[in-house]
Amino acid sequence: MNSEVTVVGSLSMDIVIRVARLPARGETLKGTTFDTFPGGKGNNQALAAARAGAAVTMIGKVGDDAYGQILLQTLSENKVSIEGMFSDKNETTGIANIWVGTSGENSIVIVPNANNALRPEDLESKSHLMDKSKILLLQLEIQVDTVLAAAKMAHKKGITVILNPAPAAAPSDLPAELFQYIDVLVPNESEAELLTGINPSTTELAHQCARKLLTMGVKNVILTLGERGALILESSKPDKPHFVDAFKVTVVDSTAAGDAFCGALAMRLAKGDSLVEAAKFGCAAGSLACTKAGAVPSLPRLEELEALMVSAI
Ligand code: RIB
Repeated sequence: MNSEVTVVGSLSMDIVIRVARLPARGETLKGTTFDTFPGGKGNNQALAAARAGAAVTMIGKVGDDAYGQILLQTLSENKVSIEGMFSDKNETTGIANIWVGTSGENSIVIVPNANNALRPEDLESKSHLMDKSKILLLQLEIQVDTVLAAAKMAHKKGITVILNPAPAAAPSDLPAELFQYIDVLVPNESEAELLTGINPSTTELAHQCARKLLTMGVKNVILTLGERGALILESSKPDKPHFVDAFKVTVVDSTAAGDAFCGALAMRLAKGDSLVEAAKFGCAAGSLACTKAGAVPSLPRLEELEALMVSAI
């Protein structure tokens, strides 16, 4: 398959408990529901791009177990190519333990398992799968040397590299070399704050924060700002931020909203959109993902995205 978007990243089974409010330290609470959903940031972003209309290849690692089988099957059912996937007999599939409160807020603990076993040499054996891609989409739920190897490989092939630096990392957690291979960095507010020390709580601070991210060496920044939308800043025009609005929705569960944004963004960039146009689409996807429970079940399809975009005109 000639994929427009390649995703190198994590796959996890999400173990989700809904609870009236998130527990305090040392506290025991009764939850209201328990579910398992396919998740993991890499997997979610691959599925989000595919549902938004892109041809997608996923490169990642699961364990040779029941959760791994479900994750592979979900990718295939959503037409994501699994030619780049490894099923490792010595590992168990990654897990994320998620608590969701009544306002849709969440707390997540991940156990990477097989995700940590995806190594740069694994990428070498699958690198040909990226050859026809326009976009490589990366996150930080696999080991950083593997992220760096993927970014370097794609950069060499002339592929646009998008990094969603999630979960949040400090600059000292990341190889300094990484930033020069990133064409579009897509952090949320807390990820951007940890990278820069600037809390993007106002329009002016968001611009300052994005400017600082550009000075780290990335070419463009799309700073997602939750219900405030997103800020786009290009290194060629650091004094001219663009803002795009989020869509007003009733939040049920914000899990994977950032993943929906990145997947839809990648799809539109692969089709040739500008950063600003693609970010509008990303905002629609992120907003829709908040309206349903679970990671993968909440990722919108192209028809839903187009309907929301049209309703906002
Ligand atoms: O971004 C949401 C994802 O983060 C969840 O699906 C969970 O797996 C965690 O990794």
